[in-house]
Amino acid sequence: MSRIESLLRAMTLEEKLGQLNLVTAGQAATGPIVPGETTQDIRAGQVGGVFNLWGRDVVARTQRLAVEETRLGVPLIFGLDILHGYRTIFPVPLAEVGAFDPLLWERTACASALEATCEGIHLTFAPMLDVSRDPRWGRIAEGPGEDPFVGSKFAQAKIRGFQGERLSDRGVLAATAKHFCAGGAATAGRDYAAVDVSERMLHEVYLPPFRAAVEAGCAAIMSAFNNVNGVPMTSHGKLLNGYLRRKLDFDGVIMSDYTAVTELVEHGVAADLVEAAALALTAGVDMDMVSGAYLRCLPEALARGLVAEADIDAAVARVLRLKERLRLFDDPYRFAAPAEGVQEAHRQLALDAARRAITLLSNRGILPLAADVRRIAVIGPLADARADMLGPWSAAGAAENCATIPEGLKAALPACDLIHCTGVSIEGDDERGIELACTLARSADVVVLCLGESAGMSGEAACRATPGLPGKQRQLAESIMATGAPAVALLSCGRPLTAPWLFEQAQAVLATWFLGDMAGHAIADVLTGLFNPCARLAVTWPRDVGQVPIFYASRSTGRPPDANNFYSSKYLDCPVEPQFPFGHGLSFARVTLTNLRINRLEFTLGDEVEARVDARNESEVATEETIFLFLHDVTARVARPLMELKAWAKVALAPGKSKTVAFTLTTESFSFPGDDMEPMFEPGAFDILVGLSADRKNLLTASLRMIST
Ligand code: BGC
Repeated sequence: MSRIESLLRAMTLEEKLGQLNLVTAGQAATGPIVPGETTQDIRAGQVGGVFNLWGRDVVARTQRLAVEETRLGVPLIFGLDILHGYRTIFPVPLAEVGAFDPLLWERTACASALEATCEGIHLTFAPMLDVSRDPRWGRIAEGPGEDPFVGSKFAQAKIRGFQGERLSDRGVLAATAKHFCAGGAATAGRDYAAVDVSERMLHEVYLPPFRAAVEAGCAAIMSAFNNVNGVPMTSHGKLLNGYLRRKLDFDGVIMSDYTAVTELVEHGVAADLVEAAALALTAGVDMDMVSGAYLRCLPEALARGLVAEADIDAAVARVLRLKERLRLFDDPYRFAAPAEGVQEAHRQLALDAARRAITLLSNRGILPLAADVRRIAVIGPLADARADMLGPWSAAGAAENCATIPEGLKAALPACDLIHCTGVSIEGDDERGIELACTLARSADVVVLCLGESAGMSGEAACRATPGLPGKQRQLAESIMATGAPAVALLSCGRPLTAPWLFEQAQAVLATWFLGDMAGHAIADVLTGLFNPCARLAVTWPRDVGQVPIFYASRSTGRPPDANNFYSSKYLDCPVEPQFPFGHGLSFARVTLTNLRINRLEFTLGDEVEARVDARNESEVATEETIFLFLHDVTARVARPLMELKAWAKVALAPGKSKTVAFTLTTESFSFPGDDMEPMFEPGAFDILVGLSADRKNLLTASLRMIST
């Protein structure tokens, strides 16, 4: 008999339910204290996992309670949200995604896993895979942006990074793909709000990253808070049991989000907690995070006949299997040993990741800064920010490890005279500091305007109806620019910020997002030209919140936007084009693409299509370019998006040099979900579009046909 079978036989109902109970220890907010009642609950075998608790001593002490003081000695699993670093903080996911570099995504996850496992963590509530096309939604910062293909690649890389080769190895974490699913489509961009999306949108946009996560072997999945088409995800049997377990064969653990089982009552699908617990369990949720509803109410649900003991056993078996895969029964403490030099290596990685995440949005030639710049005024509410450089979900990170912008500039330009002031605060109405800020600006060769959001303005429950620059930042920026001082604006943010006026007036604008520990140094390296920026937008940048949701993969209409046709799909008061398209991002080089060619004009199922394009660096600066390949299925029974990303390539180009970049597409790339949502192939015309962003005006096109066999 296997260990799991014999444990299941030995367990009382209460002990089984204990395994399904995931509790928080509150360290994230209050310090390393396991509340008294949790200690009692663990001793009583009523807890299966604990999160928000880290550090060798406290984790070991808590684990000892389970291993040595419970009847069956089943170890606890320790979890934590590690969205972009554990001790070393890397850029927030939306920024890191902009590097379009799966190896980098994997390396930062791998580094975080090593740091976290040294301090007792076994499982992380990451990666966050919610595709989102709405910058009002604060959680857009935590995920892969607007595109399902990018989201899928991100999922695979992060899971490889967290989980390594085998979960049984020390130094790796079990990953939890979250939040399943479609939370990024929350009505009006408001967290926890209802989601109403078609079956087609689910299968084309919101499910693919989760499918990729399952295929990559992710250990766990967290169901989302939101409902999908009226059914809360915590009780969505069709998507949890149906899609994940039966269709994708996912045999890992499914857990609820924080108190989400209880919330089924508020959602309006359960009359009481007993029904809520039964609904979640029978839909496929194995672990109940924080509600305590399984523990308290499943005995009653059994008595009412709402669940069967076999449902409980199946869930417990999955939790025990995860513990077994992590080798917790043999090695319940499982601490990885910190190796010499790791911390410094992780700081270097954080610098690399931060530089690669900076998106140069506009540049009128002011960047890189001229060598003769002698005096720089660093002005704005984020001019000296430290904690805000980390962004939301900074796990065990610490503000004191973070380099501010002036610190970075000072280190990069020791001979330069640096002055700084905030002028205004991030939010609030006080404009009294603007005058002094203007005086400083007038005395400087160049102004670095540090604008944006606080870390708390992105992430969970951090939605904004008007995602522009808050407070009096516009007044500050316009007053500074009116002095005539050349100004470079940096946007610290977790989302695209609508500020068309800034892009018109500033000499250069960079999205510096929340870059983590090495923010100041990475920014300085880009401003001085030591590092040539290479990030691209993983999300379309709108001009106005009225354009939201806005994304490149839209479908045509019968009346596409046409400046010469009044009765076409436009706004009266705003262009239809975004401020910057998906994939936009400048460098200090200039690269041209020519000569797109494909290896066949006709293809059939099973053929590979190869596209090649020549990339030439026309400048004097070495550069690293990202080249995107989109597909358009010109005519199909179901209208296809005007462009769908199917591949990208990164290419390093020395000054004046050219390279040929090749892409290979399998026929799968040419399929789309049919009426039954299964991939279907429809013969006919396709366009392959290649370019440096999703800007349709600047794409090379090649056409080919799928013919039937
Ligand atoms: C969030 C999850 C997170 C969980 C545990 C919830 O409020 O939605 O993303 O993993 O808390 O911290």
